[in-house]
Amino acid sequence: MPAKAKFYLTTPIYYTNGLPHIGHTYTTVVADVIRRYKRMRGYEVVMTTGTDEHGVNVERAAKNAGIPESEFVARMAETWRALWDELGISADEFIRTTDLRHVRTVQWLFKLCRENGYVYKGHYTGQYCIYDNAFVNDAKPGDNCPDCGRPTETLTEENYFFKLSAFQKPLLDFYKKNPDFLQPETRKNEIVSFVEGGLKDLSITRTTVRWGIPVPGEEPHVFYVWFDALTAYLSAVGGPDYEKRGFWPADLHLVGKDIIRFHTVYWPAFLMAAMLPIPKQVWAHGWFLMDASKMSKSKGNVVLPRPIANMLGMDALRYFLLREVVFGQDGNFSYEALVTRYNSDLANGLGNLASRSAAMIEKNFAGKIPKAGKLQPQDEALARETQTAIGDVVDYFEKMNFARALESLWAVIAAADKYLTTEKPWSLGDSEADTQRKATVLATTAELLRIVTVLAHPVLPDSTSKIWTLLGQPGSVSAVELDGLRWGQLATGASLGKPQTLFPRVEKSEAIERIESMANEELNPAAPPAAAPAAATGSATGAAAAAAPAQSEKIGIEDFAKVEMRVGQIKTAERIVGADKLLKLTVDIGTEIRQICAGIAQFYEPESLIGRKVAVVTNLAPRKLRGVESNGMIIAAAVGPEGRPVLAGFPEDVEVGARLK
Ligand code: MSP
Repeated sequence: MPAKAKFYLTTPIYYTNGLPHIGHTYTTVVADVIRRYKRMRGYEVVMTTGTDEHGVNVERAAKNAGIPESEFVARMAETWRALWDELGISADEFIRTTDLRHVRTVQWLFKLCRENGYVYKGHYTGQYCIYDNAFVNDAKPGDNCPDCGRPTETLTEENYFFKLSAFQKPLLDFYKKNPDFLQPETRKNEIVSFVEGGLKDLSITRTTVRWGIPVPGEEPHVFYVWFDALTAYLSAVGGPDYEKRGFWPADLHLVGKDIIRFHTVYWPAFLMAAMLPIPKQVWAHGWFLMDASKMSKSKGNVVLPRPIANMLGMDALRYFLLREVVFGQDGNFSYEALVTRYNSDLANGLGNLASRSAAMIEKNFAGKIPKAGKLQPQDEALARETQTAIGDVVDYFEKMNFARALESLWAVIAAADKYLTTEKPWSLGDSEADTQRKATVLATTAELLRIVTVLAHPVLPDSTSKIWTLLGQPGSVSAVELDGLRWGQLATGASLGKPQTLFPRVEKSEAIERIESMANEELNPAAPPAAAPAAATGSATGAAAAAAPAQSEKIGIEDFAKVEMRVGQIKTAERIVGADKLLKLTVDIGTEIRQICAGIAQFYEPESLIGRKVAVVTNLAPRKLRGVESNGMIIAAAVGPEGRPVLAGFPEDVEVGARLK
């Protein structure tokens, strides 16, 4: 078998003095989508992400946290890594700039640049922005940083300089010879004019910073953050031994528009100086804005990915990020638009098409995908439209036009909905001819759905895997080769898999409220409440937690009297989308009906609880659990090592509202 072609792509490595928000998630999701897409096109892909851990900001943040820098960055790197894992984003390499393999690569790159005559020692005085870790060209004392608007500081220090000025012509020639190097086209002029305007030499070491990679034999010089950070792309795939792994030069660096210059001027110049291969492409995307400005923690307008993934599923977030804004342009983020798209495109669109097609096949063909009979022109038209979409979608993916790719796919879904509405398979009878027609219509729909599932897989990995299983298709959807995808490959006769919940519809204002409240919990974590109230998960597990401190401490009756417990009766019970363990209950406690969340969803069916009398702690302060208000706690025993909740009850009939003493 011929060796697979290799494809290497990267996200920026993220600063560890902040936490991931939707802007960082955007780049990383796009990288994950491309990684999956390229694999389906037969490439051996490596995708790198990681953390940028040096510099003054980290020094300060660690000091504020009262811990050594190394411990601070280790914790932060873990937070970033864990978030990507939780969101199902699977990078192949996670590079930290404190990794030894990276430190060695930076020192090696410097040595090569120096040996080739592009490094010299000098002094530099300038205005420095400590927030962006960059000297601000042409700024005077008292000027603010043009990027972040914060005050600059005047700095003089002995530095090693990189002869960037020597690379004006080589860079301009390089851009000319490699017209696809910087994408999108619209960004190119600004970089070309910047280089044409003349390049000043660049200081690439610092003596004012302690927390950085040391320049060997030249301490206290440490490397300037960008010389350090950019090199991470190379460290991740072998560093000095990059040839062995065969993934350098990178095929694609994905970056935000704020860091284009570093990637398209400095980085190729460093590599040219070291006589190393230059990446093939840098693709710059726009920003997700909140209320028309860039998100930042200091402005208090960050949107977090986790609450959205908890409420609507990660696929919904991925879909929204790619569908809402043309890759390359800025876009506004709004929860309103997110939930609207979720309900219209995912719940009513793809999800509904999948579940209704499966239900009709189940009902009419005993759950086996039927074989199409004689085709009518409308069946053939739909097949042609879907076949054309395969080419279009692949083409759009190649051009990084994800919004158009998804638009084309959803046009096919809309065509299928229309087809079903006109063909009305549900109104056909059981005659031979009608059964044949039903088979044709449902097989056509299932084939369309199979193709949409394959093409949407890079963007919606979880839900398309579920639909693939639902359609009873062999293997896994991720293993389908896009280049061989054609109309007519549906495995007929296959038995449908178990029905799957794909995208349950949500009520807009309730969903937004819950996402916002989860985000609030994450941004402002409450101190863990003491002892028993920790059980305010409203759940039975509280019983076990409450029992522990009681062994060591005794409380007086006056303490016990503070807890008000009453007999309650469960009126309604329902599951909560995005919270597998919780049930939302309404409970009559005699004087009022309360909403209480209980962590018992894995042990009690909601219907089995209606009418049941339970013991309720009624004077707990209300709180939100997974964004849902919980006003009280249901008492249960925690049974067995896993603490299975068993609801406390009353063998005799008791009046609702009676106090427990
Ligand atoms: N550490 C540097 C990158 C070094 S790469 C060798 C850095 N880190 S960052 O954490 O500040 O930003 C990383 C990326 O996130 C940048 O590409 C930036 O554009 C992107 N985003 C940060 N906020 C964003 C939005 N609100 N929207 C979209 N992307 C944005 O820069």
